[in-house]
Amino acid sequence: MFSRLIRPSAVCGFARNFSTSNGLNRKVAVLGASGGIGQPMSLLLKQSPLISHLALYDIVNTPGVAADLSHIESPAKVTSHTGPEELGDGLKGCEIVVIPAGVPRKPGMTRDDLFNTNASIVQTLAEASATHCPNALICIIANPVNSTVPITAEVFKKAGVYDPKKIFGVTTLDIVRANTFIAEAKGLDVAQTSCPVVGGHSGITIVPLISQCTPKVSFEADALAKLTTRIQNAGTEVVEAKAGAGSATLSMAYAGARFTFSLLEALNGKQGVIECAFVESDITEAKYFSTPILFGTNGLEKNLGLGSVSDFESKLIEEALPELKKNIKKGEDFVHAH
Ligand code: NAD
Ligand code: LMR
Repeated sequence: MFSRLIRPSAVCGFARNFSTSNGLNRKVAVLGASGGIGQPMSLLLKQSPLISHLALYDIVNTPGVAADLSHIESPAKVTSHTGPEELGDGLKGCEIVVIPAGVPRKPGMTRDDLFNTNASIVQTLAEASATHCPNALICIIANPVNSTVPITAEVFKKAGVYDPKKIFGVTTLDIVRANTFIAEAKGLDVAQTSCPVVGGHSGITIVPLISQCTPKVSFEADALAKLTTRIQNAGTEVVEAKAGAGSATLSMAYAGARFTFSLLEALNGKQGVIECAFVESDITEAKYFSTPILFGTNGLEKNLGLGSVSDFESKLIEEALPELKKNIKKGEDFVHAH
């Protein structure tokens, strides 16, 4: 049901099948392009025939990253934009803006501990996007996603250009992890394993809907609880393994590229492209909530909602809502106060 990055039309592997598939000009910007996520994600995006122009923005090191990537034998033109005075040029004409700019966690921190630093980074980048490419699809990776998405939405509202169909929190890594862990546990082909993850993107707000996994899987209550907790804490697993050197970068680069390719395919008219994403929502009492989203030529075409959930999952959703609502309000209040 869900889209996958690994398909020949999107990533050409190492066969040089790079001819642009449709002749459309698709400019994509990565803001935070020199970072741990930004660099490998830009590498994956550069390989795609779906992108004609890859604009790389950061406050440091962008010329080197862009020069390096520009030697790759794929059609996307790569441009470098460094510092606020070059941000506008990077954003002009963009159809998709992907934002991994911001600091990552260290062991012992929650994602919410990043708020004080990342809120203003995301606010500034959202303001520039609202000014220079108000119709672009905005994909927020920077944490805490539960708050940085409402921040972006409030900035777009203030600028009078808000379209809830175009602002997405990227939670794809949670789905990628759920697929991997379930396939490992059950000896399944991971390429054919697909599990929606709903809610938000931190701790208990991450709610895997294992009852909806394709193919159908079943676990004893204990094993189900353990697997759910592992998916919820998988980011922390990486933070601890990296021991102070940051959080997930490579798997996030994969997830961010997968999400971007899905949007591009839908923009190009492909039908049935579905990814979970954290969007403005009326599915629960939380104003933003991640559920499977059908993409179309304007971004969000249809929110597919929660579907049928088990009692266990329904309780997880209930437990997630107070935290999620608090995180959302914190983001909104930040923009109103600044
Ligand atoms: P990093 O420190 O390696 O890279 C961040 C980059 O952002 C740096 O290159 C830095 O120069 C740049 N930056 C800082 N301020 C900027 C600004 N004002 N404008 C433009 N660029 C700016 O961090 P990382 O590991 O790449 O992680 C980035 C963010 O992504 C973190 O907040 C992290 O928590 C988050 N993250 C989210 C997910 C998710 O699933 N959504 C997964 C992993 C990481
Ligand atoms: C993740 O899920 O890996 C990211 O949100 C980074 C983090 O801080 O865990």
